[in-house]
Order: sequence, then structure tokens, then C-alpha cells
Amino acid sequence: MIVTGAGGQLGQALLEAFPEARGLTRAEWDVTLPPPPGLTADLVLHAAAWTDVDGAEDDPQSAAAVNVGGVQHAAELGAPLVAWSSDYVFDGTKRSPYVESDAPAPLSAYGRTKLHGEAAAGEQAWIVRSSWLFGWTSKNFVRTMLRLGAERDEVAVVDDQRGSPTYVEHLAAATREVLELPYGTYHVAAGGDCTWADFAEAIFEEAGLDTRVRRITTAEFGAKAPRPAYSVLRSERGAPELPHWREGLQECLARLSA
Ligand SMILES: NC(=O)c1ccc[n+]([C@@H]2O[C@H](COP(=O)([O-])OP(=O)(O)OC[C@H]3O[C@@H](n4cnc5c(N)ncnc54)[C@H](OP(=O)(O)O)[C@@H]3O)[C@@H](O)[C@H]2O)c1
Repeated sequence: MIVTGAGGQLGQALLEAFPEARGLTRAEWDVTLPPPPGLTADLVLHAAAWTDVDGAEDDPQSAAAVNVGGVQHAAELGAPLVAWSSDYVFDGTKRSPYVESDAPAPLSAYGRTKLHGEAAAGEQAWIVRSSWLFGWTSKNFVRTMLRLGAERDEVAVVDDQRGSPTYVEHLAAATREVLELPYGTYHVAAGGDCTWADFAEAIFEEAGLDTRVRRITTAEFGAKAPRPAYSVLRSERGAPELPHWREGLQECLARLSA
């Protein structure tokens, strides 16, 4: 069993949930290239990805080389494959949770590469769509807010995008249950939903910081890539249900402060 993208936040969590797996970092396998000669696996947990959503707008070809070409190369190993995808394959116009049968319509270059990556996974694959990942390593919203909260009295945070912040440890643990399901696409995200501003307030509250959150709009924030206004994911196909996002946050903060 191998885990690609072993240096990333999900990759790290997968290595803990699957201690029998061999982790491959980008240095060991750049997935824009075919698998290294001699590499074999009975299962591939493919966590390597281009995750810079705004950067993908400037360089969609490089993002696609990782998010589409990388999935194709992982599938070339010929083993069953788990490939993670994103809530950003949806346009966010719904106001009730997105289920697996909803039609994708990505707004951003990143979302398009993830959707094309799903198609590159082949027949022997579980596509696991998740959302707003955070964990104890890598670049993520929780770690960014903790840094900003320590530096500032007030942080401006977007309040008109709603999703389900998902703790990587919960997602990694649920992967074992996904492996019991037939191949196909599954939505696996935290219970509950919130806006980025709600999430930031919860982070400051749980971390004991008195930083204020100034609620702003997506337009005011002015990120390069468009993002769905609503991207809550739920499963209509019996995918595992994860704990509430606030529980994930508490566990992540406990781990960060240990
Ligand atoms: N982050 C989110 O909010 C989110 C939401 C929904 C779905 N997802 C999906 O969940 C999966 C895991 O994401 P994550 O949050 O764990 O991302 P992450 O922390 O950014 O980790 C991605 C890993 O992939 C590696 N990587 C990038 N390009 C590579 C290449 N060419 N060859 C080999 N490795 C490469 C990165 O290495 P470097 O550090 O060297 O770049 C990094 O270790 C991805 O499929 C992502 O699209 C993420």
C-alpha cells in the first residue's frame, strides 16, 4: 500500500491511519511523471495534489499536470486507487447539501483540474470528495488564523461562503470504511456547516485568543479564484459520516498545543 503526497496534511494523517502504508513524498515520486520503475502496490492512497486554488488561475497547466496527470499516473500502477477530490467541483448555487448525483460545474481552474482528475482515476477507484481540509501540518486555515490571531487584534474573514471544515484525521480514518464500499464517487466531509468567519471565530474561541473577526464579503476579500458560495457536501450513497467540524477543530487544536 502506498500513500502519495505523503508530506501533505492528508498524506500525514493517512500514514497514521494506515501504518502499514509506505509514504512517498514529492521528492520520492513527482506524480507529474510516470511511476518510478519497480514501484508496485496493492492499493494506492493518492493524496498528492496541487492545492493552491488561486495559483491555479495563473498556471492552470501546471495544476492540471499534478491534478489530472498525477491521478492518471497513479492509476497506471494498476492497483485499486483512492483519489481525493473537492467541493470546488460545484458552482455553489444550491442552498441544500450537494450529493453525489448533483452535476459538477467548477468555477475555478483548480476545480476544473480536480473534476478532470476524477475522470482520470479509471474504473478501479474510489473518488472521495471532501471540503475545507485542516490538520496539524501544512498550510491551512486553522494554522493561518492561529498565526494571524497571535499578531493582530482583528482579522477580516469572508462570511458569504458556507462549507464544512473537515479534520484530516477524521477523513483519513473514514477511508477504511470507504474501502468497504463499491468503487465510485463519495462525499465525505465533516458534520455541520459554517462560513469562514464563523470558523475563524470558533478557532479564536477554542484557542483562547480574543482576536475579533470582521465579517467581509468574497468581493471585499478579492481572491483571484472564484469559489462556491455554498459547498456543503453530504452523501446519498452510504459514505461514512464524520464528526462535527467543531469536534475536529478541538482535536486539531489539542494536537497543535501538545
Ligand atoms: N486543502 C483543502 O482544503 C482540500 C479541500 C478539498 C479537497 N482537497 C483535496 O484533498 C487532497 C489532499 O489535500 P491536502 O489538503 O492534504 O493538500 P496539501 O497539504 O497541499 O498536500 C498536498 C501534497 O501533494 C504534494 N505534491 C504537490 N505536487 C506534487 C507532485 N507533482 N508530485 C508529488 N507530490 C506533489 C505536496 O508537496 P509539496 O508540499 O512539496 O508541494 C503536498 O505534500 C487533495 O487531493 C486536495 O485536492 C483538499
